[in-house]
Amino acid sequence: MSNLSAINTDRLPKHIAIIMDGNGRWAKQRGKFRVFGHERGTRSVREITECCAEIGIENLTLYAFSTENWNRPKIEVQTLMKLLISSLKKEINTLIDNDIKLSAIGNLDALPKKVFSELNDVIEKTKSNSRMTLTLALSYGSRDEIVSAFKAISTKVKNNIISPEKIDEYIINEHLYTRNLPDVDLLIRTSGEQRISNFLLWQIAYAELYFTDVLWPDFGKEDLYEAIVNYQNRERRFGKTSEQLT
Ligand code: FPP
Repeated sequence: MSNLSAINTDRLPKHIAIIMDGNGRWAKQRGKFRVFGHERGTRSVREITECCAEIGIENLTLYAFSTENWNRPKIEVQTLMKLLISSLKKEINTLIDNDIKLSAIGNLDALPKKVFSELNDVIEKTKSNSRMTLTLALSYGSRDEIVSAFKAISTKVKNNIISPEKIDEYIINEHLYTRNLPDVDLLIRTSGEQRISNFLLWQIAYAELYFTDVLWPDFGKEDLYEAIVNYQNRERRFGKTSEQLT
């Protein structure tokens, strides 16, 4: 187990993204319904958000609901949406007290009206906060995001706003939901699964990937410290050689 003192605060990841997985299994292990795991998962969301702000992480992005998650049983989708509304209502003051700005990425129009309006309310009330940006990926799919960017760029090409020769990584980035965020430095996935599941495919081009067997409802501060220490012990070469870096 790592603790806070093991972290080098001069070399923090600027952007941590997390695939919060294992809520269903956590509940099943206890003979409970899956939604019980999601409920407990909201505790980890709170703990990890506060912990990131305390350490000095500038951006935290959480995969809360994917475009594919709409295919889950209706009751589970409804419970997740209710949990979102109650968490937003419950946590708004914590976000304000900790100077955290809330943001959201994804096909937000697909969200139920109540979720959409509660979300916008919290986004509006925290928009001037600057210590950390907490981004919730909701009804999010990376391919869906890339398709939207293609459509927006090609419309601009058609209307002579952008010439095709001018399209570069910067322009593509500017048309993604994450246009205001830096690239992901550290991607964490809990619960032992080792896949990306259509999350931030463009933005993780040079991210360090960290997989842990801990299920999301059990993922706490010490687990986050361990992931950051592990990240800090890696050499990020961005395509260069070790010698070039020194
Ligand atoms: C994956 O576990 C988790 C989700 C699909 C939802 C994550 C949602 C929360 C933690 C609660 C609400 C979020 C916020 C931001 C308040 P799984 O159900 O796929 O677990 P399994 O793989 O064990 O079945």
